[in-house]
Amino acid sequence: MAIDALKSLEEQGLAELRDAVDEAALRGWNTRYFGEKGLMKSALAELGKMPKDQRAAYGQEANRVKVALESAYESALADAKERALQASLNAEPLDVTLPGRSAPRGRVHPATRALRQITGIFADMGFRVYRTRDVETDENNFELLNMPPHHPARDMWDTFFTTTPGVVLRTHTSPGQIHVMRESAPNPVRVILPGMCYRYEAITPRSEIQFYQVEGLVIGEGVTMADLKGTITSFARRMFGPDRQVRIRSSYFPFTEPSIEVDIDWPKDDPNRDRLTKGTRWLEIMGAGMVHPSVLRNGGYDPAKVTGFAFGMGPQRMLMLQHAIDDIRLFWQNDLRFLRQF
Ligand code: FA5
Repeated sequence: MAIDALKSLEEQGLAELRDAVDEAALRGWNTRYFGEKGLMKSALAELGKMPKDQRAAYGQEANRVKVALESAYESALADAKERALQASLNAEPLDVTLPGRSAPRGRVHPATRALRQITGIFADMGFRVYRTRDVETDENNFELLNMPPHHPARDMWDTFFTTTPGVVLRTHTSPGQIHVMRESAPNPVRVILPGMCYRYEAITPRSEIQFYQVEGLVIGEGVTMADLKGTITSFARRMFGPDRQVRIRSSYFPFTEPSIEVDIDWPKDDPNRDRLTKGTRWLEIMGAGMVHPSVLRNGGYDPAKVTGFAFGMGPQRMLMLQHAIDDIRLFWQNDLRFLRQF
């Protein structure tokens, strides 16, 4: 192909561009000229077959034509788009006086609300919030909390195991105690650890397989059971009001000694009271106790110098007690009729 042929390729290209009526026609033109087997490509390929002395001049001209066609295409495309936009604006005029679609208003999930309320109360008592992971090692979830493999107390927590040996979904927020202690020892600690827990257990109106807990941990010199009882009762007063009753009973956890459990009385006039409290009129909201000396040691503290208390509470159970909610499954069912009430 000679230089003349390049010139006529340019003229032909420009003429066809002028004739292209819309964007689709322009895109077709672009494929014809600049596609894999396009005219411009074959014109450039000619360069290889040229006698050496003509190559430079041909190459220069071919480049000029290429750039000229490309820029003519770009501006024709921009014009066509603008024309199409104008046409559609003329055909479907915009009525700015029509009322807009209102965006649905979201709200905070009741479980999040409970967490915020709990966090607020403990913040007033000088607690710091500390977050730890949902996926835990068996060691943190059980062993360092005084439950070696095959310890019968492991039966209290039906566990989801992952396919990685020694890695579980945490069954409670208590493994967070180990993280906090190892980061803070030998200094005093006053923290709460909110987070999701997972248990492979039967789903009932009061138990889910996935639920929130808020762990609490206080360590320092001279911390006693009286501090634990005082903290829990003043928390319950603020969470449930002065008229609700708090019951503290002795219990057992391998990582606290002594251990207690805390119940709140179910609202008196609620017809579901017997069903949800199994006839006792109390609903358990937390386990707690004085941190076991071996757990303190596992966390890096000297149990001869410091003592501590810990608790693990269920915010969803507390919300059930506050509002007489008769089924814990409502929390994760995403039923707007339930969620809108909060
Ligand atoms: C524990 O999980 C201990 N780690 C608590 C603890 C912490 C004791 C620190 C001592 C020191 P428990 O399994 O009882 O204990 O659960 C604690 C609270 O979590 C319960 O009182 C309840 O409010 C809530 N909870 C437990 N299981 C469920 C469940 N399946 N669904 C909803 N809430 C639950």
